[in-house]
Amino acid sequence: MIEIIRFVRKKFHGASLRELAYLEIEAFLQGLAIGIPGAPGFFIRFWLYKLLFKKLGTMAWVSPQVRFLHTHKLRVGNTFSANSGSYINAVGGITLGDFVLIGTNVTIVSGIHPIEGPLPPVFARPVETKPVTIEDDVWIGSGAVILAGSHLRRGTVVGANSVVSGETEEYSVVAGSPARKIRSR
Ligand SMILES: CC(C)(COP(=O)(O)OP(=O)(O)OC[C@H]1O[C@@H](n2cnc3c(N)ncnc32)[C@H](O)[C@@H]1OP(=O)(O)O)[C@@H](O)C(=O)NCCC(=O)NCCS
Repeated sequence: MIEIIRFVRKKFHGASLRELAYLEIEAFLQGLAIGIPGAPGFFIRFWLYKLLFKKLGTMAWVSPQVRFLHTHKLRVGNTFSANSGSYINAVGGITLGDFVLIGTNVTIVSGIHPIEGPLPPVFARPVETKPVTIEDDVWIGSGAVILAGSHLRRGTVVGANSVVSGETEEYSVVAGSPARKIRSR
C-alpha cells in the first residue's frame, strides 16, 4: 500500500497526501452521483460540481456517466453541458468559457506521459502537465479527443471523432485526425 502511495505521489510530482485524499473523495462522490437518472441526477451533479470545481458558473447540465478528474483544477463558465461517456482530466488545468457544449464520449486531457528514450518505463515517469483552454461558444462533437496543451478559440466547432492538438481559429469548424479547418462559421 505504501509503495502504491509513493508511486502515485512521484507520478504527480510529489503530490501531497492532502491532494491524494482529495482525489479519493472526488472519485467517491462522483461514483455516487454519476448514475443518478433524470432531473434529480442533473440537479445533484450540478451542486456536487459547484462544490468540487475550482469555478463553475450558473448552469451545468452533466449527463450520467461523465467523469471528471482533478476537479480542483477545472474552471467552467456559465451554461455548460457535457454528454454521456465523456472523460475530462484536469491534471494540468482546464479552463472552459461560457456556453461550452461537449458531446458524447469526448476526451479532454491536460497531461502527457513523456515518451523520449527507453528508460524509465513510460508508466513510471511523472506526468507532464499542459493546460487546456476552451473559449466561449465551443461545440465538441461526439468521440472527439482534445489533447493536452490545446487552445480552442471562441466559436470553434469540432467534428465527431476528431483529434485536436494545438490551436484553432475563432469561429472555425475543424474535423478529422489530426483535426484541420474545413470552413468558417
Ligand atoms: C463538423 C460538422 C459540424 C460539420 O458539418 P458541416 O459543416 O455540415 O460539414 P459537411 O457535412 O458539409 O462536411 C464538409 C466536409 O467535411 C467532412 N467532415 C465533416 N465532418 C467530419 C468529421 N467529423 N470528420 C472528418 N471529416 C468530416 C465531410 O466529409 C466533408 O468533406 P468533403 O468536402 O471532402 O466531402 C459535422 O460533420 C459534425 O461532425 N458534427 C458533430 C455531430 C455530433 O457529434 N453530434 C452529437 C453531439 S452529442
